[in-house]
Amino acid sequence: MRVLTVVGARPQFIKAVLISKSLRSKEGVREVLLHTGQHYDAEMSNIFFEQLNIPEPDYYLGIGGGTHGQNTGRMIEAIEEILLKEHPDWVLVYGDTDSTLAGALAAVKLHIPVAHVEAGLRSFNRHMPEEINRVLTDHAADLLFAPTPTAVENLRQEGLPESRVRWVGDVMYDAALHFGRLADRVSTVLKRLDLESRGYVLATVHRAENTDEPARLKAVFEGLSQVAAELPVVLPLHPRTRKALERLGWLERARERLRLIEPVGYLDMMALEKNARLIATDSGGVQKEAYFFGVPCVTLRDETEWVELVEAGWNFLAPPHDAETVARLILSNLNAHGRPIKAYGDGHAVERIVSELIRQ
Ligand code: UD1
Ligand code: UDP
Repeated sequence: MRVLTVVGARPQFIKAVLISKSLRSKEGVREVLLHTGQHYDAEMSNIFFEQLNIPEPDYYLGIGGGTHGQNTGRMIEAIEEILLKEHPDWVLVYGDTDSTLAGALAAVKLHIPVAHVEAGLRSFNRHMPEEINRVLTDHAADLLFAPTPTAVENLRQEGLPESRVRWVGDVMYDAALHFGRLADRVSTVLKRLDLESRGYVLATVHRAENTDEPARLKAVFEGLSQVAAELPVVLPLHPRTRKALERLGWLERARERLRLIEPVGYLDMMALEKNARLIATDSGGVQKEAYFFGVPCVTLRDETEWVELVEAGWNFLAPPHDAETVARLILSNLNAHGRPIKAYGDGHAVERIVSELIRQ
């Protein structure tokens, strides 16, 4: 059996790493790895391949940095060509990026079965490019690996046949368990940054709705700056956000108040998350990792796909409309502690996905 995996953005390298490893360990399975190039800076891409021992991609398209239409269109064309050459039995796509949609569309038009890992997530906010990517990918896919029962229910509500849907758990939970242990042994990031465990807030910001709207970006950065007057705020800066701050002339001001650092590798990120007092983020993956490590999280968005975290008292929505709300929600939840939840499975999502693919 030949599986062609499409990745391209940072979270996809992390979601794919253990599945690729497992697929490659099975007799009779060959994985072809395709990297679209959507994320291309060394610290957004190479670092994950090197540190997590992800095999060198068989194909690297070098398509990134364009608009959604440019990226998606060019990717579809290039992926189609590769599919016609490789004839895979399955195309495996992850999450909700432009690379995900391009992989799914290229495959489905050639009648190649598509499996979607992290199916069924919904924000119900159609302004998010990710929401469009998810809905279209789910409707194109033949096998839908849902991370949570809520995701299964979302797919049912959209009329997708139950026969296509599997609740397998969240592969990011598997990855956090596996690499979180490794991070404890090898990461030196706290020492390098001279941070004390529980002595700082960790923040990440990259969503288009925050970076591309100056009023929201201002509320986020001014809010975090107010927090920094009480507790250091460490922020590995996504290139999209760096460019937005530069454009607005706010980068230096942010640097004076916050501990802005380059994006870090996954192991350092695990260590920073585990030891944070609280995490403030608009990332999807980071919200869950906060919970996996028992750290409270403030989500800098109007809504979240991971609703179970809010219901269980781990996650607090802080729509970034003004700096005071952002700062207040962070400072008032530093000691929050929610209920345990089972929605993300038991840490064996990877095995379920791989056996299901092989069984088909
Ligand atoms: C993308 C995904 C988003 C995901 C995020 C993870 C889409 C629509 N969005 O958002 O779902 O949460 O990745 O991080 O697919 N850039 C660089 N260097 C890089 C990567 C990006 O400079 O290595 C800059 C470029 O100016 C680029 C911009 O960031 O145009 C946006 O990158 P893009 O991949 O389009 O979207 P993200 O915001 O990273
Ligand atoms: N991450 C990382 N280094 C960083 C920031 C994030 O390794 O500097 C990891 C993080 O731990 C999580 C994933 O990247 O596993 C989340 O990616 P991102 O926030 O870019 O995307 P999203 O999850 O929002 O799609």
